[in-house]
Amino acid sequence: MSPDSLAIYGGTPAVRSRYRERWRQIHLADLLPILAHARRDVSTLAKGDGPIALFEKRFATLCGTAHALAMNSGTAALHSAYFAVGVKPGTEVIVPGYTFFATAAPILQCGGRPVFCDVDARTLLADPSDVERRITPRTRAICVVHLWGNPAPMDRFVDIARRHGVALIEDCSHAHGARYRDRPVGSWGDIGCFSLQGPKAVSGGEAGIAVTSDPVLFDHMLVLGHYGRLKSGQARNTFDTDYISLGVKYRPHLYAIQLALGSLSRLEELNRRRQRNYDVLCAGLAGCLAVEPIKTTVGGLRGGFLEFILRYVPEHAGGWNRSAFVQAVRAEGVPIGEERYARIGDRGRMLHETPIFTTLDVARLGGPLGRSEDEGERSTGHDLPVVQGLGGRLITLPPFTRVSEQFVRECAQALRKVAECAATMGEQSGRHGTRLKGAGIAGEDETNGEFGVRSGERARVSARVV
Ligand SMILES: Cc1ncc(COP(=O)(O)O)c(C=O)c1O
Repeated sequence: MSPDSLAIYGGTPAVRSRYRERWRQIHLADLLPILAHARRDVSTLAKGDGPIALFEKRFATLCGTAHALAMNSGTAALHSAYFAVGVKPGTEVIVPGYTFFATAAPILQCGGRPVFCDVDARTLLADPSDVERRITPRTRAICVVHLWGNPAPMDRFVDIARRHGVALIEDCSHAHGARYRDRPVGSWGDIGCFSLQGPKAVSGGEAGIAVTSDPVLFDHMLVLGHYGRLKSGQARNTFDTDYISLGVKYRPHLYAIQLALGSLSRLEELNRRRQRNYDVLCAGLAGCLAVEPIKTTVGGLRGGFLEFILRYVPEHAGGWNRSAFVQAVRAEGVPIGEERYARIGDRGRMLHETPIFTTLDVARLGGPLGRSEDEGERSTGHDLPVVQGLGGRLITLPPFTRVSEQFVRECAQALRKVAECAATMGEQSGRHGTRLKGAGIAGEDETNGEFGVRSGERARVSARVV
């Protein structure tokens, strides 16, 4: 394929169909129950009854757990889970080095230390063998993240957690409705935590929920941030307390939960559509060496997705760095961006290299949390080889839901087209000779990307052609 056919050089864009995402997170019908409460001047239900109880019941059913506790964020759910299983000063929690920082940050609130583990190169999920290697007498819990909706091999983690007597927490923030060996995520560990924020598959705008089948853990979570429910809402009556909780308030907004109820009712359809479009995209990329879908865990059924993440292999695309590749693909009309979590820290640092986690010196940001005397700085900088290799090698597409299949097919064609042209140009002119400014040898290009094309827009390319 001639490089001149690339849209970024004036060729015809590969994507001819219009990108129009017709899936709506918020339906008018979701607002009617909110209006009904508003008309009665009701905006909070402190005891967790009414729509909040209904949502918790439905979410527990989705996950196959006995209990669910709605909160105001996924971060609150994770903090509550770490608190409930006894994370405290002197303890450690093993978390993947590749995830959103909110998986790890609440461990600091409990005074514990996050210990980062490597991920499986095929699935990008916590590597069970590496997790086991990092268990010490201080380990209190393992937190597994079902990143990008891909369920982790939970039988392995359950086995490890049982053998070592540590708690198992699932961060299911991307994976609403995902299953592993036909059992819902969230039900494998002691506690499953979900974000219900913004673009998540079930969303209340800002909200979260934790699920568990252990009534005592439920009560522990309740006592942290739900004082309105302590007297009547405990599952096992674990605590004899007044209405006093421990200084944070994690009660969700009533209207957020009403929105989430609406979106939960559409989850099955959302997952069916996303899976179908993901399959179409993967089929369109079959055999393309430069852009590979991430393997779904054997025995897993994806859910939620949040984004469609693909691996970029610059060695098969003329050595173009990711940013140049993404620019050229955008010009073809694909709403593509650069994945963010692999280098989420300041100046492109990986999570396990960010000062807040290497030094635990939270005090320098203000507040009373500091490192405890017995915890020296521990270098975790260079022992997560897979995580370290992810920089500049992941790209992201929106989770296509209600778009035409033709559009998805054309996106795959566009990715292949750019990869082929880049490979040809790489061969013709050597790795340094690409015509795109900035299209040097693939390295760790660190610019954070957004999806490049908004719904209904053609790509506007900012790359200069030389
Ligand atoms: C993997 C993961 N865990 C936790 C969270 C935190 O959720 P929230 O933003 O609802 O606090 C997020 C948010 O995107 C996430 O992606």
